[in-house]
Amino acid sequence: MTKLVVANWKMNGDTSKISADLNYYAHVSETNKSNVILALPYIYLVWAKQHLLVNSKINLAAQDLSHYLNCGAYTGKINGEMLKDAGVEYVIIGHSERRNLIGENGPILVHKVRNAFESGLTPIFCVGEPLSARTDGSYLQFIELQLAGLEEIEQFKDIVIAYEPCWSIGTGKIPTMAEIQEVVEFIHQYMQKRFSYVKISVLYGGSVTGQNVDDILKIKSVDGVLVGGASLKVSDFTDICAKV
Ligand code: PGA
Repeated sequence: MTKLVVANWKMNGDTSKISADLNYYAHVSETNKSNVILALPYIYLVWAKQHLLVNSKINLAAQDLSHYLNCGAYTGKINGEMLKDAGVEYVIIGHSERRNLIGENGPILVHKVRNAFESGLTPIFCVGEPLSARTDGSYLQFIELQLAGLEEIEQFKDIVIAYEPCWSIGTGKIPTMAEIQEVVEFIHQYMQKRFSYVKISVLYGGSVTGQNVDDILKIKSVDGVLVGGASLKVSDFTDICAKV
């Protein structure tokens, strides 16, 4: 199976950086691939699709979507239908920054995943333990609880799960390869038992760089990587994509 590489730009970039970076990515073989997915801030998605990635194989992701399914009086919200209309294929849901800074919780995330499915988007659902759960050994229970809400969804479809330990995001610290493998295999088993009829990909995210990506991708059960900081530097991101 082709491994995925997702760039999470978070709240970064402006028109000049995005046009320079995407023009480059659309024209070099290392990055112009359908398994490369760029999660840009909302306001740049339509422009990226219609002007910067014309004839490119690169896919786009949004970094969030509304938990309201239908259009209506929800000031400031963007729903899945709008994202699909903009040419977006994937949507990140439940990133730990949104869980921790904005307080997004289980039921809202379940709505978002359901809405992504209904809109024809593939969710990239993030899970991962805080340092305390890693230290006291309860990390698998923590992740199981984060996954449990998904069982409420009736019409389950293909999904990407990203294992991102909170303590590894933006810190330069990554788990050992054995630790990554343990959690990724746990997620595969959990999902397989309940949703064996869909395609489930499990990514690793948290301080991924051109230096550590080879080792991470050697883990058979890892289906790709979610890259934050290193995706903002063209040379680093190109380097990562060349290895995926
Ligand atoms: P990082 O971020 O690569 O900068 O650690 C990853 C993420 O938050 O998705």
